[in-house]
Formats: sequence, structure tokens, C-alpha cells
Amino acid sequence: MDFVTLVSLEELTTDFNYLNWLKQGGIIGLPTETVYGLAAMASQPAGIEKIYAIKKRPHYNPLIIHYPCLEEVHKDAVFSSWALQLAKTFWPGPLTLLLPKKENSSICPQAHSFLPSIAARIPDHPIARGLLEKTGPLAAPSANLSGCLSPTSPEHVLHFFRGQFPVLDGGPCKVGLESTIIDACQAPLRILRPGTLTLEKILEQLPGIPLEAAFSSQGQVVTPGSMLSHYAPQKPIRCDVQTLEEGEGLIAFGPPLAQAEVFIQLSWARDLDQAAHNFFAALHAMDKMKTCKKIAVMPIPDQGIGIAINDRLKRACYK
Ligand code: TXA
Ligand code: MG
Repeated sequence: MDFVTLVSLEELTTDFNYLNWLKQGGIIGLPTETVYGLAAMASQPAGIEKIYAIKKRPHYNPLIIHYPCLEEVHKDAVFSSWALQLAKTFWPGPLTLLLPKKENSSICPQAHSFLPSIAARIPDHPIARGLLEKTGPLAAPSANLSGCLSPTSPEHVLHFFRGQFPVLDGGPCKVGLESTIIDACQAPLRILRPGTLTLEKILEQLPGIPLEAAFSSQGQVVTPGSMLSHYAPQKPIRCDVQTLEEGEGLIAFGPPLAQAEVFIQLSWARDLDQAAHNFFAALHAMDKMKTCKKIAVMPIPDQGIGIAINDRLKRACYK
């Protein structure tokens, strides 16, 4: 089947038997509040293999399993008491928990690269939840080619994969950065990938939780998929820029640099949530823009959500 269209959940339910499609190893573009995912049934190796092939993703890099509700996660994974508190406090939402996998789980080992743990998340998006309630657990990495910019709109998914699978249209993603990943397999718990759910926000809600940051914005590799070079646009990119060079388009955070002729604004008011929401869309747009050959990004404060933005930027700039 050749797909070129975006579909709504209603259209998918009525026009097309998506459940059979997924059960037979089909894949689907899935909106979440963070970024768009590329989803397959978590219990079906055929769909999982398609995800790895179409993304050109190395097989050692496991996928996140998306669930409709906590009861479903309990069937597949073991929770410590702190892990359960995190789940109850922040799910549904932009949080992924690494948990020991239960032996009788139906998740196929190819989905998590045969590791003893699974990465679980309940997304906070009506379309994702609507689909998950019908299908059960779906394995879904971000819907981009491995190493490239993450997709925060259906058009970004089509940019990479037009015509190759149906994409559920959920409009632009609210959050715009991938989920915070916490390794909850041991104590202390460790944040492996920073996201909009920051250490400070977690400590505010759960004071006393033994939780530490195990990432560094210098680009440490802490999960199989946290490559030093990642999230890269096609054009050369520099970050922390104070002075523009010839041919550069500017991604601004607040009032743009004086020499900027071409710029895209992350947030005029220097609001970090707004900057996170606009971040990948700005990079996609700059990549397409004909009037500049290179990308320069103004400094983003390394605090709160700025830490997660800078994590992505450092990897985008890594050579
Ligand atoms: O917001 C998100 O998390 C999005 C949406 C679609 O949910 N997904 C996403 O997936 O960002 P992906 O595949 O782009 O990033 C998942 C990260 C990778 O770095 C991977 O190595 C890590 O999670 N991961 C997944 N399962 C793991 C496991 N069992 N053990 C260690 N790391 C794991
Ligand atoms: Mg990704």
C-alpha cells in the first residue's frame, strides 16, 4: 500500500483496519506530546524489524514501549517504590522509566535489543492514548532517520518518510523535546536523558527521592542510543554563537544578534518552555531555508529546560 496522506484517528478507525495492519507488522506515525513516534506492535518482531530498517537505526539501540495505562506496564515490568511514585506522579507525561522486564512479558526482545530492562512511557496525547487503548503496547522511537532532527509536526515525519506509512495527524507537538529518561532499575535512580521534566521539577513533587543526573551536556554516552553526534541538521551548525559568520542564518533566543539578516526566533521573551517547543521546528525550517548555508544558534541558559535544549544542541554540533 502506498500512503501519502495524513489521517485523523477517526479516519483511521473508519476507513482502514489499522489493528490488522499493525498486527501484520505494519508501522504508523504517531503523535505524542514530546515528538512524533514511529510505532509498531511491541509484541510483533516483524513491525519492530521494519522500524529499525526504515530508520536505519542500529539494532543495539532499544525502543521505548508506549502504554495506555499503568496497569498495562505492571504486566511487563517491575516497579520499585520510588519508580511507582514517579509513574503515579508524572504519567501520563514526558517521562520514560527504565524498569526490569518481567519474564512472562509479551514484549518481544527485539524491541529492547535483548536487554534485561524495558523503557516504558505513557504519553499525554489524546490520539496516542486513543490508539494505545485499542492496540496495547506500541514500540516507538522518534519518527526520524537515525541521527537526524527529531520530528515535532506531521510534516517533519513526511519529510523523512513520505508515502511509506500512514501518519496520524496530531498537529504540532506541545512539548517539542523528547521525554526525560530515568533509569529506575537501581538506587539511586539516574536521569539518563534530560527533558522538560527536570530534576528540580521532580524534587519539588517528590522530595527525598534518591535521584541524580547521569548525563552531561558535554555529550556523555549513557544509554545505547545517546550518541555523541545526534539530532543533526543537514547544514553545518554552531552553537553558543556571539558573532555571526558569512552565510549563517541565526536561531535567536531573545533579541537577535545585530548582524543577523536571516533569523528564526525560539522565544522573544527568552522563555525556555517556548524555546523547547520551537526548537526542532526552527532547525527543520533553517535546514530548508534557501537564503542561508549554515546555522548559528545563540546561547541558551544552561538551567531548567535549557539543560535539555543544550544537550540536543551539543550533539547536533558534535563533529
Ligand atoms: O519522547 C520520547 O521519548 C519519544 C516519543 C516518541 O515517545 N521517543 C524517543 O525515542 O525519543 P528514541 O528511540 O528516539 O529514544 C529512546 C532512547 C534511546 O536513547 C534508547 O537508547 C533509550 O531510549 N532506551 C530505550 N530502551 C532502553 C533500554 N531498555 N535500556 C536503555 N536505554 C533504552
Ligand atoms: Mg530519537
